[in-house]
Amino acid sequence: MPTISRKGHQMPASPIRKLVPYAEQAIKNGKHIYYLNIGQPDIKTPEVALNAVKQNDIDILSYSRSEGSEEYRVKLANYYKKHDIPISHEDIIVTTGASEALLFLFSSIMDPEDEVIISEPFYANYIAFSTASGVKVVPAICNIDDDFALPSVETFEKLISPKTKAILICNPGNPTGSLYSKEEIQQLANLAIKHDLFLVADEVYREFIYDGETHYSIMQVENLKEHAVMIDSVSKRYSMCGARIGCLVSKNKLVMQTVLKFAQARLSPPTYAQIASEAALDTPQSYFDEVIHEYVDRRNTLISELQKIEGIKVAKPKGAFYCIVELPIKNSDHFAQWLLEKFDINGETIMVAPANGFYSTPHVGLNQIRIAYVLNKESLIKAVHILKEALKIYKD
Ligand SMILES: Cc1ncc(COP(=O)(O)O)c(C=O)c1O
Repeated sequence: MPTISRKGHQMPASPIRKLVPYAEQAIKNGKHIYYLNIGQPDIKTPEVALNAVKQNDIDILSYSRSEGSEEYRVKLANYYKKHDIPISHEDIIVTTGASEALLFLFSSIMDPEDEVIISEPFYANYIAFSTASGVKVVPAICNIDDDFALPSVETFEKLISPKTKAILICNPGNPTGSLYSKEEIQQLANLAIKHDLFLVADEVYREFIYDGETHYSIMQVENLKEHAVMIDSVSKRYSMCGARIGCLVSKNKLVMQTVLKFAQARLSPPTYAQIASEAALDTPQSYFDEVIHEYVDRRNTLISELQKIEGIKVAKPKGAFYCIVELPIKNSDHFAQWLLEKFDINGETIMVAPANGFYSTPHVGLNQIRIAYVLNKESLIKAVHILKEALKIYKD
């Protein structure tokens, strides 16, 4: 039989999606599942976005420009300006989700064997994007005991080798909910300039910031122009995960020209989805106010319910809609599968994401899970109750 590639073998399965067959079987067996494993919000997509597609009378669904439609990019640049992020539409390339932006970026700025330093735990697909580009991930390890604070700049500096090309952060963070301050971002920026590295910030959760805190974007750092690349997406901001629209933003012309060549190879981002994303920019502020209010309520409920369970640790998230929970177990992969296959309370169980997939360091995170609080409060309370009862009888 013809063989597949080494890279194909190395490509990790998504830790979030790999339990799906067990969930499907559980459903066939008549169980109801509370999905805490995936960042698919249950929040309604803004009507302006949906209507722009429904009421459109396009008669040829054509390709758009490879960098994305100009109208959308101009309007998007205005949105950033409103957030004190001074960029022009020429600094934006529209992509098929933040995922494609990251894939294009990794291939544009790094060669196989180059290294990217990433604060860990991190969004699991960063490993997949690195594997696809042959790039080595060097983790800057964060700890649940100090709420997954960003490691010191000295720690980052020690990790820099002749092969390091970039530092990647996610702010606010998936899976930790950490939010990095202006000072922290500026320190990392100085480090990137000192060692001539790219500083890449995945800011797809920019709107999801709680407790009166504010977000500081790497595009706001004044002297970082050539070194900064921002990754963004409409997926979470407007609950439009299925639109598959994101973007890559940078003032570095060479990076943009290079990313554009990758963008040209895939022709264009989806046309209907760009129409929806452009219209979504007219979403009234009241939509975000309600959404943020809802997430704060969910976060507070989830954290206070979790804190009632003996023997667990949880870091209170300041942004995004995830948290890492440390459990008195040895292997969360096994625990997550057991919950789906062997456990229920009155026909109900939960699906969680085992956290070791969010670490590149072997054997770390095995006693942790990630919970996405994308369900309403009542469901979250029931889900935590199921977790609590499950831990009482689970044997590693
Ligand atoms: C941190 C982070 N970056 C990127 C993505 C991918 O976003 P998109 O749906 O725009 O591809 C996700 C999706 O969950 C994410 O959590």
